[in-house]
Amino acid sequence: MAITYYEQERLFELRTRRTSYLFGVNGKGTLQHAYWGEQVEAAECAGLLKGRHHSSFDADIDRETEEFGGWGGSHYAEPGLKATFADGVRDLKLGYRGYAITGDDALAIELQDTHYKLLVRVHYKVIEEHDIIERRVTIENRESAPVRIEQAMAAVWAVSGRQRYRMTHVAERWAGEFQLRSAMLTEGKKTIESRRGFTGPHANPWFAIDDGEASETHGDVWFGALGWSGNWKIVAELSAFGHVRVVGGVHDFDGAFSLAPGDAYESPVFVGGYTLRGFGEMSRLLHRYERAHVLPTGELRKVLYNSWEATEFDVRAEEQLELARRAAALGVERFVVDDGWFGARNSDRAGLGDWQVNRDKFPEGLETLIGEVKSLGMEFGLWVEPESVNPDSDLFRRHPEWIYRFPTREGTQLRNQYSLNLGLPEVKDFVLGFMTELLTSYDIKFIKWDMNRTITEPGADDPGMPIWLAHVSHLYEIWAELRTRFPGVEFETCAGGGARIDLGILRYADQAWISDNTDARDRLAIQEGFSYAYSPAVMMCWVTGSPSGLGGRSLPLSYRFHSAMMGGLGIGADIGGWTDTEMEEARGFVAMYQSIRHIVLQGDYYRLAPLGRSNLAAYQYVTEDRSESVAFVFLHAQHFGGEERRIRLEGLQPDAAYEVTANDGEPTALHGSTLMRAGYPIMLRGDYDSWLLRLRRL
Ligand code: GLA
Repeated sequence: MAITYYEQERLFELRTRRTSYLFGVNGKGTLQHAYWGEQVEAAECAGLLKGRHHSSFDADIDRETEEFGGWGGSHYAEPGLKATFADGVRDLKLGYRGYAITGDDALAIELQDTHYKLLVRVHYKVIEEHDIIERRVTIENRESAPVRIEQAMAAVWAVSGRQRYRMTHVAERWAGEFQLRSAMLTEGKKTIESRRGFTGPHANPWFAIDDGEASETHGDVWFGALGWSGNWKIVAELSAFGHVRVVGGVHDFDGAFSLAPGDAYESPVFVGGYTLRGFGEMSRLLHRYERAHVLPTGELRKVLYNSWEATEFDVRAEEQLELARRAAALGVERFVVDDGWFGARNSDRAGLGDWQVNRDKFPEGLETLIGEVKSLGMEFGLWVEPESVNPDSDLFRRHPEWIYRFPTREGTQLRNQYSLNLGLPEVKDFVLGFMTELLTSYDIKFIKWDMNRTITEPGADDPGMPIWLAHVSHLYEIWAELRTRFPGVEFETCAGGGARIDLGILRYADQAWISDNTDARDRLAIQEGFSYAYSPAVMMCWVTGSPSGLGGRSLPLSYRFHSAMMGGLGIGADIGGWTDTEMEEARGFVAMYQSIRHIVLQGDYYRLAPLGRSNLAAYQYVTEDRSESVAFVFLHAQHFGGEERRIRLEGLQPDAAYEVTANDGEPTALHGSTLMRAGYPIMLRGDYDSWLLRLRRL
């Protein structure tokens, strides 16, 4: 039983395979968090609900660990909810009213203000097998006047019982997304956030908390990830009394809204989990959860070719066809035409918004190319950026009122474009309309949906819903509708790289473009950071040219392939210029990838030797039944002469023998115990050498 209510103790236990999560109704009738960690005897923990008082300055210490608290009374911690009633009262007193258990795994706790009919339901869904709990809230106004909601968070998580706390998250910027950061928390708040209208490249909505001692393989880690692709914040607050609250949801910044009588607000889902097996297990739990409960399908990623880095805006029928022929010869399964195929889109200065095929570039329309691509045995895919418009476009000339900007301002252009106000019903209809037309008119099996600027100067709110909310809600509705209308089409989330990847959009997206930085060495760092919270099942990686267009680094083709084979493989190089030898080598890598992709995309993932620890990086994937595995090993700079290194593998069956093949070498048979404890010998030569190990249980 995943959910138990201990009536006498007024305590709830959410029990997963390895964890207990406890909260209850305290003496003051409010909902209080009690415990989260390895399993305990819940009924013996009722004492954790005891009220605590320190001084008149800290009258209600226990309120700091409220399970979902509102701002009111002597409560000063970052609130779950902050509201103003019609009479000006801004004091919330959320009292416990009851609970409902649905099925085996869902619990809803009902709270209501003690005076006003503002009802809050705190929802839990226990994902028992992955040690994860999904949380969200609904807020219902049963008053006869509107209530102003100033902050409504999806969940408040509490971590306690440790001497010190460290927070881990990702940060940085375009072309350098998902860079890992960790820092000890001191009293006060650490906020990670986006106020740019989408998830953002500067931070990503997940966190991990440990006591500073956890490693890849050991130690308690509490973690969470928020499913929202608009403005968001996650606040970790360490109190003076030694516990951390992690509060997260849609950002309250510029986000207050009025909840009309009878209306309800539903927050996004904020999942949380706990493991005592370190950061590696945290990632595996999240990955398994995503594959089983978040992603729209269990399909494996197709090997794709995308011409963006080869041709940029200069996409013309004959050249695309030539590239398609070369791609097909490599074993590519999906051919994607990127930006530049529509309107007057010859650069990023014009045409965005005019979603008609450019007849100069495709005199016979797209049909001919699509036909050829299909006859080469590949699917056809197309790039779109529906939420943006160039001022130099027919769309903008027709509808200048569709963009975000304030009436007395010109508005900021970024990459020579404005953002469309997707919150407007007519803009939503336009996007759904042209996408439907496109997908009905052509045999398109894949859409890369991009967004190449942040949202700025959002303009006046609809009185009912802040634009920040409306944009994302409409985006989700469009994607959901397109998936229903076109079940055979797959979608990629892209925002100038990895700026819109989170558990919200991943309910609709089959795959994610995680960065515009395709330098295979930089990419390892981006992919590794990505892997902390997100599964390789959606992580698209391309092999591109050398030297890399971004940093000018030259890398061997083998290294570039190995780096890109760690998720969904794509090729983005100008393959028109590849020599016969390169083509031959690449064909071998594509075939190899096709034979291991089920392990990479659906297996358990291990960061054997994360970057930053040494000069070497190694990652491993193991199928759930432990019968197959692959490992990628990369050396960066050679020092003091080559030496044999031993890579210790993980996740294998110790008493089983495995056939191990390194690169193209002869297989050897070794036991899981040997491979995991004594390791497998590897000899890396020169700079940027890389190895691929394949294992098959005998
Ligand atoms: C963004 C994407 C790229 C490419 C360009 C096209 O930067 O991330 O992959 O599609 O737009 O303009």
